[in-house]
Amino acid sequence: PAPGWSISADVIVVGSGVAGLTAALRCQAAGLTTVVVTKARLDDGSTRWAQGGIAAALGEGDTPEQHLGDTLVAGAGLCDEEAVRILVTEGPDAVRRLISTGAHFDTDDEGDIHLGREGGHHRRRIAHAGGDATGAEVSRALVEAVRARGLRTIENALVLDLLTDAEGRTAGVTLHVMGEGQHDGVGAVHAPAVVLATGGMGQVFTATTNPSVSTGDGVALALRAGAEVSDLEFVQFHPTVLFLGPDAEGQQPLVSEAVRGEGAHLVDADGVRFMVGQHELAELAPRDIVAKGILRRMLEQDAEHMFLDARHFGAEMWEHRFPTILAACRANGIDPVTEPIPIAPAAHFASGGVRTDAQGRTTVPGLYACGEVACTGVHGANRLASNSLLEGLVYAERIAADIAAAQAENGLHARVPQPVPDPEKPEHPLLAPEARFAIQRIMTEGAGVLRSEDSLAKAAGQLQQLHSEAREALEENGKTAEPGVDTWEATNLLCVARVLVAAARLREETRGCHWREDDPERDDTRWRRHIVVRLNPDRS
Ligand code: SIN
Repeated sequence: PAPGWSISADVIVVGSGVAGLTAALRCQAAGLTTVVVTKARLDDGSTRWAQGGIAAALGEGDTPEQHLGDTLVAGAGLCDEEAVRILVTEGPDAVRRLISTGAHFDTDDEGDIHLGREGGHHRRRIAHAGGDATGAEVSRALVEAVRARGLRTIENALVLDLLTDAEGRTAGVTLHVMGEGQHDGVGAVHAPAVVLATGGMGQVFTATTNPSVSTGDGVALALRAGAEVSDLEFVQFHPTVLFLGPDAEGQQPLVSEAVRGEGAHLVDADGVRFMVGQHELAELAPRDIVAKGILRRMLEQDAEHMFLDARHFGAEMWEHRFPTILAACRANGIDPVTEPIPIAPAAHFASGGVRTDAQGRTTVPGLYACGEVACTGVHGANRLASNSLLEGLVYAERIAADIAAAQAENGLHARVPQPVPDPEKPEHPLLAPEARFAIQRIMTEGAGVLRSEDSLAKAAGQLQQLHSEAREALEENGKTAEPGVDTWEATNLLCVARVLVAAARLREETRGCHWREDDPERDDTRWRRHIVVRLNPDRS
């Protein structure tokens, strides 16, 4: 019988990065009973891996208006200007509140926050911590606050599906929990408000900067629940990821944009700075332009990677400003103090996700989304560097304020969930865990940095075949993969991959981080608009 256990709360926050923990802390502070559920440990998500920092107009002479301008340019015509205005205007105070919560940022000799620079920013605007370990510090501070304030958390809890009442309003979630005592196995948390903060989907590709938990679970849940999802074709490939060989798989070490912000050069094997002359900001052009510049040069020279040369920083600067990157390079046999770093683009960030309004509300009543899983409209076709932690902070706070306002106005009322199918006997087929690797190969070959109708059509066919095989096994022999975290992750990856490929086929133009070999121009007459997907819940 399912679910095997249940608990209740006012708010369930799913995920424990900057967005999830900020939302949870603010909901708790507003007097709402809040439960955080997270798939692994509290600090296992992407936030911990963020290097560069948090962009906000904190410096002398900087203004939200300038930050807005840079964000809109990077977004290549598809940002929601009002959503960006909220981000850049509320951003500075949100960072100050994060500092009050306990995060320490690096300061200069006067004690002011030291600001770094990254691609697409016309000025120094990036607050950082521990040199290049910003995410680790943000995560530490938030996890400590969560523990100190006694917030209820359930770790090792993979969210499965949204529960809704007879009127289609959010009533909670079902979960698969491993090794957490009384809440083991499949259970449910009932609540009238659910905040999705499950992070990204980088694991849909073979090589990514994302940790192994980034499997698109929140987007897949939202699709199954009938929520609208938007802009999935805009997957950002980070230009400078440490190149560990053509067959490298899984999470790869990032070499932050902040290294270029401090003056590192992108060079080819002959030492030529190939970004100079391609854009007024050269190596500090927006991320999509730099990633394309690198890949173009790789194709021209039939090279597996390019180089980032920062030998001129010297040992002291490397050790002080970029200790994390220095250690990662040295652990892989490269010493950036004495040699250029081999780099290549790898999957990094989902600019799209579950569509929300300015309060973080999705199209399903009571279901919210913030952080990478969400599509608030701030990123458009290509996220500006270091706007992601900021988006997580600002929109998580807005969600908490919205739920608190609903509570104050009408009270939050528990809703009676409609009976759900047994999650361990799914009506939709589950994929075997090994399918994850097949999906990653298909997506990397067909829907990576450079795409075309041919490559995408082939990927769509291969993904459809994986789906059909699993469906036939279920329908003809009643067989499906054994339920478990790996199985559900593979199933979620297939779900988001199919929608991503469908959106990428539809968008017959090149814009932001969507690069079509066969449609190389931006087409504002046809495509200055969003691709919004909503699945019919009766079909898989
Ligand atoms: C980086 O440090 O380059 C990553 C920052 C980001 O993804 O915005």
